[in-house]
Amino acid sequence: MANADAVLSQFTQAIEEEKVDCSRKLKIGIIGTGWIAEAHIESYKNMPDVEVVAAADLIPGKAEAFMKKYGVEGVRFYPSHKELIDNEPDLDGVSICTYNTAHAEPAIYALDHGVNVLLEKPFTVTTEEAIEVMRAEKRSGKVLSIGFQPRGDENMQNIKTVVQSGALGKIYYIQTGGGRRRGIPNSTFIEKSTGGIGALGDIGCYSLDVVLNAIGYPKPLTVSGYKSAFFGTNPKYATPDKFHTAEENAARFSVDDFAAAFVRLEGDIILDFRISWAMHADTPGDTIIFGTEGALRIPSTDCWNGTFTKPMTLYHDVAGNHVETTIPLIPHKGPGLFDIKIRGFLDAIKNGTPAPVPTSQIIYNQAIIDGICKSADLGREIEIDIPEI
Ligand SMILES: NC(=O)c1ccc[n+]([C@@H]2O[C@H](COP(=O)([O-])OP(=O)(O)OC[C@H]3O[C@@H](n4cnc5c(N)ncnc54)[C@H](O)[C@@H]3O)[C@@H](O)[C@H]2O)c1
Repeated sequence: MANADAVLSQFTQAIEEEKVDCSRKLKIGIIGTGWIAEAHIESYKNMPDVEVVAAADLIPGKAEAFMKKYGVEGVRFYPSHKELIDNEPDLDGVSICTYNTAHAEPAIYALDHGVNVLLEKPFTVTTEEAIEVMRAEKRSGKVLSIGFQPRGDENMQNIKTVVQSGALGKIYYIQTGGGRRRGIPNSTFIEKSTGGIGALGDIGCYSLDVVLNAIGYPKPLTVSGYKSAFFGTNPKYATPDKFHTAEENAARFSVDDFAAAFVRLEGDIILDFRISWAMHADTPGDTIIFGTEGALRIPSTDCWNGTFTKPMTLYHDVAGNHVETTIPLIPHKGPGLFDIKIRGFLDAIKNGTPAPVPTSQIIYNQAIIDGICKSADLGREIEIDIPEI
């Protein structure tokens, strides 16, 4: 928790109240009141045009204790997403903060009842689920935004600006990924029935988003994937929690802790990807984007969580000379990344504008993650097939 607080609350400047139209308060519900819901409620409390009216959790008493901890009064409580949506006809939006395997069902239920949705990352576990969510999104005409708060980081935005400036020429190869020497989570992250996917869904989706967003989210065509779980299943490396010893968590561990893939993207671009919750190295490598006119190196950080800690380097030629240009880190001045994410969702609801992080992009992120799992299970390369929505 302390780690999440440190990461998510590192930028604390408040949303400027005078710029927000408070003539009508948006009624918001929170579905799933676990760890990440804490960041959501803190941000909603910072929004002058929001009233959090309802909360749901499967665990009896959890939502009540959560709202008490955050000092939010007047909230109605429900035992699951279904009762919350059924009994709150005036809701403007919900934050879906459930574990990965419980993303699709509440999202579809909310959209089908005309409620706008901010859905935590990763989009879903499988591509099939994501497609069903997108069909509900289309039927409803409501906002559905996926919770990638690093999109609000100026350094991530700058990667896109550099790539889109043409400084790299035509992009043909990307190496990306990240990970931690030791950093296996516990709780609902490590079981297939709740997490569904491991490092891939937890941090892999961020690494993919950094580069795919920069190059305009081309469609993935084929993937040859690998995944393993040598660390999570070993009591030596498993992480104990309030309810389980390291031995017990090693026995519960049923997702990936490492994955690698070779992905072909539309536009003749190769994506070489690896992600790790634990390994015997400090990093699986920097992110490098190769183009015909230049290359960009983005130094590896502990994990892709919205923090960029070292400057990027642009490699190019000037009049036949090999030149390396340092692109300094941009200090973050605005509101926190979570406040930006929540504000973007609220503004899309109020203004009828597109979702800040649209499913039309993230479906490709999801298809790569799911493709890696399916290819790894089959032990061969597969084609990525994304049906019409
Ligand atoms: N954006 C970020 O920085 C970030 C960080 C951490 C986690 N996450 C994502 O947030 C999600 C939740 O993670 P977490 O660590 O908070 O998990 P968690 O297990 O702590 O909390 C999830 C809660 O959802 C509840 N729940 C499940 N199904 C429900 C349903 N149908 N109705 C009501 N409640 C339900 C569970 O009982 C649990 O209390 C995950 O998908 C994770 O990937 C995002």
